[in-house]
Amino acid sequence: MTSELVSKLRADLTGFTVDAVNDLLGPMAQAALGREQSLPARLVVREHLNEPLGALIAVFLLGLEVPAEQLAPAVPTVGLAGLAELGLLTQAGHDSGDPVRARVDLRPYATVDALGPADWWLTSDLSEVATGRPLAEDHVLGVGGASLTLARCTIRRPTGRVLDLGTGCGIQALHAARHAQHVVATDISARALTLAELNWQLNASTIAGTTIEGRRGSLLDPVAGEFFDLVVSNPPFVITPRNAPSAAFEYRDGGMVGDDLVRQLVESIGSVLAPGGIAQFLGNWEGRKGEGWTDRISSWLDASGLDGWVVQREWQDPAEYAEIWIRDSGQHLGKDADDLYAAWLADFASRGVEGVGFGLITLRRPVSEKAAPLRVVEERRTGPGLPWGDEVIATLERQDWLAANDDEALLAATLQVAADVTEERHHLPGAEDPSVILLRQGGGAGRVVQANTALAGFVGASSGDIPVGRLIAALASLLEVDGQALRAELLSDVRNLVRDGLLEPRN
Ligand SMILES: C[S@@+](CC[C@H](N)C(=O)[O-])C[C@H]1O[C@@H](n2cnc3c(N)ncnc32)[C@H](O)[C@@H]1O
Repeated sequence: MTSELVSKLRADLTGFTVDAVNDLLGPMAQAALGREQSLPARLVVREHLNEPLGALIAVFLLGLEVPAEQLAPAVPTVGLAGLAELGLLTQAGHDSGDPVRARVDLRPYATVDALGPADWWLTSDLSEVATGRPLAEDHVLGVGGASLTLARCTIRRPTGRVLDLGTGCGIQALHAARHAQHVVATDISARALTLAELNWQLNASTIAGTTIEGRRGSLLDPVAGEFFDLVVSNPPFVITPRNAPSAAFEYRDGGMVGDDLVRQLVESIGSVLAPGGIAQFLGNWEGRKGEGWTDRISSWLDASGLDGWVVQREWQDPAEYAEIWIRDSGQHLGKDADDLYAAWLADFASRGVEGVGFGLITLRRPVSEKAAPLRVVEERRTGPGLPWGDEVIATLERQDWLAANDDEALLAATLQVAADVTEERHHLPGAEDPSVILLRQGGGAGRVVQANTALAGFVGASSGDIPVGRLIAALASLLEVDGQALRAELLSDVRNLVRDGLLEPRN
C-alpha cells in the first residue's frame, strides 16, 4: 500500500462525510439500514448515481455494482485503478461501461469523545446486508454497537503506552492515538491488520505525533514482557459451541470453551500493565447452576490480583443469546440454522449455564502493594448504563480516597454535596413530615438513594466547611439522639454516598 495512493484517496473523500451521507439517504432509509434493510437506501441512491456522493454510497456502503463511468468521477485523484491497487475495488474490465464492485466497506465515521470531535473514514469487510450472503469466517468487522460502547467507556486522558488488543478495523487504536504517546494494536487476523493499517494511514493527519504499531498474534503473545498504561479490548468474547465449526467467526469467537477467553484475559492482563495501568474490556460471562455470575467474575478478579470493577449491563437466557449471534452472522437465513441453534443450547446445557451477562470490566494494577484490592461487581440493567470514561476515572479516584481514609480520617474530613444531586420529599396527603426522602444523582450512574431524616439532614448540611464528625454531633443534638449511635449509623451511609459520587471530599 503506497502512502501516495492513500493521500490521493483522502483527497477524493473530502465530501464523503457522515452528515452528507445522512442528508442524501434521509432518515427513513438510514433507519431501515439500522434494521439491516437496504432496500429504501438502494431506491434513494438509484436517483443519485450520477453524483459523486451517490456513487460512493452505492458502491462502498451498499455493495452495489455500478458501471465504471459512474464511480470514476467520484475518485478523480486516486482513480479506479488506484482503488483496485489499494484492494478496495474489483473491476470487470477497462471499459467505461464495465461494472465495478467494492471489495470492502468504506464509510465516514464521526464521533465526539472527551477530546472533542473526530471525523474519519474506515474500511472493513462488507456486511451481509451489502453482500446478501452470510459472513466469511475471517470477516473483519466494521464499527458496531460494541465498538462504540467501548470507545465511550474508555478513559480519555493523556497517557503513555496503550494496547488495543483485537484491533479489527483499528477503531479503538485511532481513538487511543488521540491521547496516547504510542499505541500498539494487535490482532490474530492478518486481514484485519491490513485494513486497520489503511485506516490509520487514511486518518493519520488527525493523530499527528502518535504512532500506531500493528502486530499480529494471539492475546498477549505479541506484547509479552512489555508494559502499558492503558489496555482496551473489545475481544472476541462471544460464547460459541466448539462442536459446531460453522458458528466460529474470527471477529467474535476466540476459539475457547464457554467464557474462557474473557477469564484468561482478566487473569493474565496484569502481566502487561504498568503500575497504575488500567485495562478496560467488554465481555460476556456465564452464570452457571451453583455458580452465579457474580461469584464467577469475583473469582477471576481475585485470580488477577488487580483492582477490579465489573458492571453488568445485560443478561440473556441461553436461547436469546444463541438467536442473537446466529442472526448477527446472517446464519438464520441458512438451511442449518436449527442445527446451529440446537448446538448452542446443548453447549450451554453441558455447563449448566442459566444465562449470559454482558458488560464492562475495569482492572487496575495498584501503584503499590495494598492490603485489599478494590472489588466492585454490580448490575446496571436500567438507568444510564455502562460508565463513561469520566465516570470510570472519578469512581476509581473515589475508591482510592475511601481506601486511604479510615473512619477517624473520614470524621475529620469535610464533604460537599455534588452539584448534580437533588432531593425529593414525598408526603402523605396532609402530613407535615415526609414519608420518603430520595437523593437523586443527575449524572454518573443516576443513583437514587432513600435517606432517613438524619442522612438527609447530613447531606443537606454538607457544604464543605464543617468536618463530618462535628456535623454528626450537631445533628445528634438537634435530633435529640445519642451522638455515638448516630455516628455509627451514618458513617457507612456516608461512605456509600462518597463511593457513588453524591458526596465529594473537599480536601
Ligand atoms: C469484536 S472484534 C473488535 C474489533 C475492534 N477492536 C472494535 O472495537 O470494533 C474482535 C477482534 O479480535 C480479533 N481476535 C480474535 N481472536 C483473537 C486472539 N486470540 N488474539 C487477538 N485478537 C483476536 C478478531 O480478529 C477481531 O478483529
